[in-house]
Amino acid sequence: MTSYEQIFENNRRWLAEKTANNADFFAKLAQDQNPEYLYIGCSDSRVTAEELMGARPGEVFIHRNVANLVNSTDLNVISVIDYAVRHLKVKRIVICGHYNCGGVKAAMTPKDLGVLNPWLRSIRDVYRMYKDELNAIADEGRRYDRLVELNVQEQCVNVIKYAVVQQRYVKEGFPVVHGWVFDVRTGLLKDLGIDFPKILKGIQEIYDLTGQDWFAPSV
Ligand code: CO
Repeated sequence: MTSYEQIFENNRRWLAEKTANNADFFAKLAQDQNPEYLYIGCSDSRVTAEELMGARPGEVFIHRNVANLVNSTDLNVISVIDYAVRHLKVKRIVICGHYNCGGVKAAMTPKDLGVLNPWLRSIRDVYRMYKDELNAIADEGRRYDRLVELNVQEQCVNVIKYAVVQQRYVKEGFPVVHGWVFDVRTGLLKDLGIDFPKILKGIQEIYDLTGQDWFAPSV
């Protein structure tokens, strides 16, 4: 474990490295941010957003919470999405879950978790939606992995429910939403291949907030 004092030594070494061949690195960084990605991931200390992506400062706008959830009443995530789409004009929104996620595991456990109950309930809702598929998986570890993936998929759907996301996509063709899973056991980052236009089309009947018939087939 890094000692408290070591953190500040690390920081000075890091900034020295950054400026060694680029003296005005921080002067440029301070001017503005123009990230192409919004990353919504788990708070888990093992899933280091920038490090696992090889991203540099200024490249990724980041939001993290327990089990990478996008809940409709969470003003925090709503504000992050709104700012990222409306003002930063990000091209891609990523939901990144991970195997061995304590939040997902807790939601699979039928017991009272106190203040975490309402937060984790949306994962229980995902379980309920995919109960038949999940219960057909005999191996508990594989069932747990699959719930991690399905949770990512449903949080992608939740992102697509936002009016600002739909309206910007109709107008500009972005942001596109992606679902990822990071495997803490191997270090591998996996794209779940979420079909963004298909999901948009699938939920249009109920969640369309664009105010226009934007999926009418062209003839
Ligand atoms: Co987690």
